[in-house]
Amino acid sequence: MYHLIKQLPRAIIIGVRKGGTRALLEMLSLHPDVVKVSQEVHFFDNDLTYAHGVDWYLKKMPFSFPHQITIEKSPAYFITEEVPERIFKMNSSIKLLLIVREPTTRAVSDYTQVLEGKERKNKTYDKFEELVIDTNTCEVNTKYKAVRTSIYTKYLEHWLKFFPIEQFHIVDGDRLITDPLPELKLVEQFLNLPSRISQYNLYFNATRGFFCLHFNFMFNKCLVGSKGRIHPNVNPSIKEKLQRFFHPFNQKFYQITGRTFSWP
Ligand code: A3P
Repeated sequence: MYHLIKQLPRAIIIGVRKGGTRALLEMLSLHPDVVKVSQEVHFFDNDLTYAHGVDWYLKKMPFSFPHQITIEKSPAYFITEEVPERIFKMNSSIKLLLIVREPTTRAVSDYTQVLEGKERKNKTYDKFEELVIDTNTCEVNTKYKAVRTSIYTKYLEHWLKFFPIEQFHIVDGDRLITDPLPELKLVEQFLNLPSRISQYNLYFNATRGFFCLHFNFMFNKCLVGSKGRIHPNVNPSIKEKLQRFFHPFNQKFYQITGRTFSWP
């Protein structure tokens, strides 16, 4: 245990929920200079845990060598109002990673996760189409959380009251699924890490339909089955309506972040 210490995170994956936050954390932990916090700590978004103080948070960190950086992920951070100020108070120069997916796909993924939870408890749940459309106005229901969370610009603008845009790195969650290595290289650069993650660390597993991780000759792993659920079919006209709804927010997001996606 000589030399091993606990260190506060120097980078946090702040969200977004269903963006690919677990895959990003696991893939970054392929880097020898990165130590991941396996569990979601929910320190900054939960008043009760936050009240325990930074010493409590530090105790939750894994052991690492001094040259390594600790990375935590808690996707609720991105959408919880109090979080940016709390993180700023802990470390105003921390690096913030935000992984996003095409907003409508993310909303469906979010819905699918909740649906699965309800089904597990033998509960019924509305169809996606019924939740995303306000029956009174026939417009997109912005009260529905899965819709709101996909308005990335709204939350990012709040974060920017505390941190400059240079402290954020936006990860393309759709590309992390289909071609993860270039996205991981960009993160290595942002974190000022030497380039260590290579094509040998990642292999496509046809059965899973996703890239899996190859740590060394002994140890391979794919993400758990709850990552990569089959989404329900969505009525194409509702899907289009949602895409039209997100379009102006997406444009603003591209403008603020300087990263453009081919979202509809
Ligand atoms: P779906 O379940 O909708 O496919 P999060 O970890 O933030 O909850 O994100 C979950 C999403 O990560 C999954 O959404 C999946 O598409 C995506 N993902 C990205 N890379 C993956 C990988 N290598 N293995 C499994 N899921 C991956």
